Formats: sequence, structure tokens, C-alpha cells
Amino acid sequence: MAFRALVVRKDGDGPVTGAVEELNEDTLPQDGEVLVEVECSGLNFKDGLCMTGGGRLVREYPHIPGVDMAGCVVESGDDRYKPGDRVILTGWRYGEIWWGGYAQKTRVKADWLVPMPANLTSSQAMAIGTAGLAAILGVAALEDHGITPDKGEVIVTGATGGVGSLSVSMLANRGYRVAAVTGQADAADYLKSIGAETVIAREDLSEPSPKPLESGRWAGCIDSVGSTMLSRIITQMAYGGTIAAIGNASGIGLETNILPFLLRGVNLLGIDSVMQPYENRMRCWNNAGEWMQLDTLDSMIRETRLEEMMELGSSILEGKVKGRVVVNPSL
Ligand SMILES: NC(=O)c1ccc[n+]([C@@H]2O[C@H](COP(=O)([O-])OP(=O)(O)OC[C@H]3O[C@@H](n4cnc5c(N)ncnc54)[C@H](OP(=O)(O)O)[C@@H]3O)[C@@H](O)[C@H]2O)c1
Repeated sequence: MAFRALVVRKDGDGPVTGAVEELNEDTLPQDGEVLVEVECSGLNFKDGLCMTGGGRLVREYPHIPGVDMAGCVVESGDDRYKPGDRVILTGWRYGEIWWGGYAQKTRVKADWLVPMPANLTSSQAMAIGTAGLAAILGVAALEDHGITPDKGEVIVTGATGGVGSLSVSMLANRGYRVAAVTGQADAADYLKSIGAETVIAREDLSEPSPKPLESGRWAGCIDSVGSTMLSRIITQMAYGGTIAAIGNASGIGLETNILPFLLRGVNLLGIDSVMQPYENRMRCWNNAGEWMQLDTLDSMIRETRLEEMMELGSSILEGKVKGRVVVNPSL
């Protein structure tokens, strides 16, 4: 049976190009046990890289991008899933080394799937998606380390991005006072509408700290930016403050000093959503509908078609995407 997909191709040293094509189901990877009709996929920073050839994430062409998807099982060779089951897939390098979710059909390994919680639609599941799973893991990590709303403010970097905006909204919904850091001059109203109490300009944190310890302000931090901004925030953490390091939108370097860790007991926690074990994934997805304010989540969604994804892939790498893009491959 034929289905539509966004296919990216690369000729030798030429650029990566992409177009919506019609493919046959027998072209899908045959070693996946479960055939899924994709209802929605999302747009993540990594999708931008996969659509433009960045980060050497995609090694083989032609390729179907889309690092996450939500949909309905059509056929299953695995006892855990049957036709009609609603499922979610994020991580496991899906959409990078395996054909991904920018398609009406996908064939995947049963081990990668989680059942979709009954309180989420496919669109909401993909508005959460990989970025939201990482944000939930980050907030859970802060709370597992004793951070509660009464401990003080939580700072969120890259606040208009996927991880950032979902973190802002989720933290506010859980009663935290949130300071949102953004490089977008016109984003203050948006960030306040999703729950930020304070908005901080990116420039205020883009220089290295002048001292090993600044006055301690933040109880928690959800960081998707890394590099100089993360190193600056480390020096501003309050006693016992905890940082969930999720991303590297501004670079992979991290220059810091030991004093915030030794004198203030600051915790720097790494977050990985890609290889996260099943039990913890399920814990996060089962909490998602309650931890996120679903009305706010709906207000962040921009639904789109496969035909628009190549352009959106470049936009997300330039930091120009606000809120959550959800692609419906059947539109
Ligand atoms: N660890 C994991 O499992 C995991 C999972 C998902 C994503 N990630 C990573 O998390 C990061 C964010 O992913 P995303 O999907 O949320 O991407 P995104 O939507 O592009 O968000 C990144 C945000 O960072 C800010 N930013 C971009 N370039 C910057 C720079 N040079 N300096 C300072 N801020 C900058 C921008 O926000 P403002 O314009 O508001 O400043 C941008 O919207 C990426 O590095 C991604 O690879 C990791």
C-alpha cells in the first residue's frame, strides 16, 4: 500500500534536499515488528539537523526524518501491541539511523514504543514529544533532588524553544516561580502567557561570570543552551541548587570552577531522553497530562503539513520557532 512521506536525499558532496514522495509499504525497514499509522510527529532541534545534514546524524540516504511520532498500530508481530493500540515513540535514534515519523506509515521495533496515555491526544503527545519528555525528565530530576516550589525561583534557558517553553509551562503549572531566559526581544508576553514570572534577556547571561561565585539566586535550572550561559548560571545557584542539563543549543563547551559545587552543594545533573529505560519513560508519560497544563499546551500548538517541514527544519536551527510544531502527515 502506498503512503506519503518527506524523503531527504543527498548526492555525493551536494546539499541535502527534501520533498514529499509516495512510497510503498514494502520499502519500510523490515526488521521492525510493528507497523504504525502515524497521526502526528513533532519538530525538534534534532529534526532540523536531520533535515539539513547537520551533526552527521543521518548517515544513509534516502532517509525519512522525524525523531518522534504518535499513532495507531496497524499490524504487530509482538504480543505487547495489537492493531488499534495508540502508541508513542521518541528516542532510540529513530528518525536518525532509522526511517522516522514524517510519513503516514512507519515500521518500528516494539521495544521502542510506549502506550499512549488515555488522557492525551496524538497532537498533544507530539506537542510534548522528545522535547517535552526531556523537560519532564528534567523537572523530575530537580524534584528527585529535593527542589520544591518553596525553595525559590527556577531559571529556564532557551525559553521560547521546545524544551524551554514546555519547562516554563510545566514548572508554572506545578507552582514554581519561573524566570525565563530568551534571546527574542518580543517574546516576553508569550513567555508570561505560558507561566513565566520574570523574563531575562539572553545578553544578561551571555558573558562569563566575573567571579567564581555570584549571589545565589536560583533554586533550580532547566538548561537547554549549555556553554557560557550554563557556566554563568552555575555561579548564581543558591545553596543546594540543582541544574538539569538538557541541551547544547549554544555549544558543547563548559568552562566552570569548583566552588559552587564545594561551597554551595550545587548539583549538575545530565538528562538523556534517547536511551531512557521503559519504566521511567512510562512514569514521565503517565505524569505528562497532569504535569502539563493541557489548555496551555494546546495554545502552543501550530499544526502543519509535511510540505512545510524542510523550511521549518532550517528555522528551528536559527532559533526562529516559537511554541510547538505538530505535523500531521495526512494533511
Ligand atoms: N538531553 C535530551 O534528551 C534532549 C532532548 C531534547 C532536546 N535536547 C537538546 O536540547 C536543546 C534544545 O532542544 P529544542 O528541541 O528545545 O530546540 P529549540 O526549540 O531550537 O530550542 C532551543 C532554544 O535555545 C535558544 N538558543 C538558540 N541558540 C542559542 C544561542 N546561541 N545562545 C543562547 N540561546 C540559544 C533559543 O531560545 P530563545 O530564543 O528563547 O533564547 C531556542 O529557541 C538542543 O540542544 C537539543 O539537542 C536534548
